[in-house]
Amino acid sequence: MNITQAIEARKSRRTYLPTPIDPKQIALLKSRIEEYNVRSSLGIRFLENGEFAFSGIRKSYGMFKGVRSLFVMKGPKSDPNLKEKIGYYGELLILEATVLGLGTCWVGGTFDNSGIRTGEGEELVCVITVGNVSKSETLKERMIYKAIHRKSKSIQELSEIVGECPSWLKAGLKAVQKAPSTRNTQKVCFLYEPGNLRARVPETYKFDLVDLGIAKLHFELAAGGRFEAGNGGRFLPSNKE
Ligand SMILES: Cc1cc2nc3c(=O)[nH]c(=O)nc-3n(C[C@H](O)[C@H](O)[C@H](O)COP(=O)(O)O)c2cc1C
Repeated sequence: MNITQAIEARKSRRTYLPTPIDPKQIALLKSRIEEYNVRSSLGIRFLENGEFAFSGIRKSYGMFKGVRSLFVMKGPKSDPNLKEKIGYYGELLILEATVLGLGTCWVGGTFDNSGIRTGEGEELVCVITVGNVSKSETLKERMIYKAIHRKSKSIQELSEIVGECPSWLKAGLKAVQKAPSTRNTQKVCFLYEPGNLRARVPETYKFDLVDLGIAKLHFELAAGGRFEAGNGGRFLPSNKE
């Protein structure tokens, strides 16, 4: 499985097996984190024993089970694109972990952040659980999935398209349909007219810009090209148009 195929395979997993992550896989994930921190100026960290953040049933509402390891998603408060970068690079790590056969879940609210250290001037945006999971989901996971996961939005609902929809745009939007988003709200909208594509999200909730970064990454991986940073950022195609 490669990163693009991982888009299809990924699904939020909330029940983890007691088997720790293989040290070789940990080394690979840590080297990716280092690389992404250099690229983005974020301060992402791998926390091997992060179960304390999920041990209180009150904070986690009983949704997560067996959590052990976490990606701590943090970075400089002063970065105007902090949340979008957290979404982009966090999702890249999730897809890397999916390639390794690990389960993951973005967690914005239902964890206890009191024991997680942040440096001077840093903001902890959220965490991502990561670990070994059973091949098929447990009954509890399926029930949570049914409760949270409404149907994915259609390509029409995710976009405003003037004129024909080129094949690269369709491929990008299909990958966005598979992207995780806060409470599966899928609020990011792609605005297209020939020669101009932008990705925008209405900023009404604290994780909207994280969702924007996640959606941009999925789009880029499937369509090629790169989005400018920022809400409403323009798409710079590689050679698709
Ligand atoms: C920024 C962000 C925060 C999230 N926070 C939580 C959370 O606190 N608890 C939880 O159980 N799931 C959380 N999720 C997972 C979403 O509920 C999940 O991605 C969505 O329902 C789509 O399901 P899927 O990831 O299986 O495709 C979060 C997702 C994102 C992107």
